[in-house]
Amino acid sequence: MLQVTVSKLRALKEKGERFAMLTAYDATFATLIADAGIATILVGDSLGMTVQGHGATVAVTMEDMVYHTRCVARGVSRSDAERPLIVADMPLGSAYTVEDAARNAARLVRAGANVVKLEGGLWLAPVVRFLTERGLPVCCHMGLTPQTADMLGGFRLQGRGEEDAARIREEARVLEEAGARLLLLECVPNALGKDVSEGSSVPVIGIGAGPSTDAQVLVLHDMLGLTPGRKARFVKDFLADAGTVQAALAAFGKAVAEGTYPAAEHCYG
Ligand code: KIV
Repeated sequence: MLQVTVSKLRALKEKGERFAMLTAYDATFATLIADAGIATILVGDSLGMTVQGHGATVAVTMEDMVYHTRCVARGVSRSDAERPLIVADMPLGSAYTVEDAARNAARLVRAGANVVKLEGGLWLAPVVRFLTERGLPVCCHMGLTPQTADMLGGFRLQGRGEEDAARIREEARVLEEAGARLLLLECVPNALGKDVSEGSSVPVIGIGAGPSTDAQVLVLHDMLGLTPGRKARFVKDFLADAGTVQAALAAFGKAVAEGTYPAAEHCYG
């Protein structure tokens, strides 16, 4: 069975072909996402909110992440389509030392993850290097990092002033240099999304980071219009027009590939 790899995503970036990522937490949706030809699945710690009903991601444990990664990996293996790359989140506190990071990343890889995702900035560089040297591929989540949103003034746009934007550009440079195979950039102005994507050799996956990133990710429940309350600007409900879950997943993949999502109204110009 064909498998999407990090090298394939890098080749897509080099050809200027955008790819999509969606979160999944269970086998059924993982199969549907694979069937829809979405290149990458994120087993996000957003499951703390979407599945467990918490108000934030900080309650999510390694046991939760291992359990949901196993469910998603089983679902992906049931699809006849090319297998999406599975990225699994390292939850809050699971990578404060390099030894903890390696032990916990290995648990996620054993559960079926192809790449582990870590939230943070420059402090992550030694952790990324340690994992990469041991053959554990890392995605670094920058910009708005939900696990530490309180330190960032809440769920708000990051990298607005030149100093903050320069810090994020520098983090991207240092983390790529440390070995990060993917970068994920959340909630920054379009211009910064463009700068980071153009300045990185590895694919940059955006969420609320404008139209110029190499890929776009959304939380599954958001793109199916299932999230109650106020929605972030970058969220688009693809189910409303598509009518079925399968058609919504396909529409999201197509909109990302063709560059029609995100549109101006989903961006922080
Ligand atoms: O946990 C998650 O779903 C995420 C996305 C918001 C990118 O990190």
